[in-house]
Amino acid sequence: MNQDELKRAVGEAAVQHILPRLEKDSIIGVGTGSTANCFIDALAQHKHLFEGAVASSEASAQRLRDHGIEVFDLNQVAGFDFYIDGADEINNNLEMIKGGGAALTREKIVAAVAREFICVADESKLVDTMGDFPLPVEVIPMARSYVARELVKLGGDPVYRTGVVTDNGNHILDVHNLRIASPIELESKINQITGVVTNGLFALRPANVLLLGTQDGVKTIS
Ligand code: 5RP
Repeated sequence: MNQDELKRAVGEAAVQHILPRLEKDSIIGVGTGSTANCFIDALAQHKHLFEGAVASSEASAQRLRDHGIEVFDLNQVAGFDFYIDGADEINNNLEMIKGGGAALTREKIVAAVAREFICVADESKLVDTMGDFPLPVEVIPMARSYVARELVKLGGDPVYRTGVVTDNGNHILDVHNLRIASPIELESKINQITGVVTNGLFALRPANVLLLGTQDGVKTIS
């Protein structure tokens, strides 16, 4: 199977994972990216079984609506059971780097509300130590250069993602050359830099379950 087929397989597996627990009034948290898109497309066939979704990006909200799935504002819902999203890297503790698609802040917010975070990923995303994938950091535009200088002090090489404005109107710095030995510590440290909205480490709130697409089938890791 190629990478796209593995992504489709985990998208379908995520639907099968949540299907037995869906109820008429269920709301589903939906992430962003090509793997999350596979989940959305597989979910659409079952849209009569649940009430709707909250989305972590305008792009995913549009894709859900295109399938006829109602999209709710997060402020309209008190809580929900599942958040399904991809990752750029994930380790064996189910800590992740996310934000390759610049949706990290909304992803972190929707994940915070969900009772269960189900990560869907092909096997190329599983790593021992995170950091080969540049760590995205969302910054308030006027703070970009200041935050970049602070990130250099932490040992990284930040690169401005030119031409990208997040759904929240902010900018992204991609931090190269980090070897992330202590993800929780680094996530907290970067979030304390003034001008940072959030960073793409999901270690304080890791995934609960990983559905990993491999050549031997989809593996469930928790
Ligand atoms: C978007 C994300 C995505 O989940 C991450 O980039 C993985 O994307 P893909 O499934 O396309 O590989 O964090 O901000």
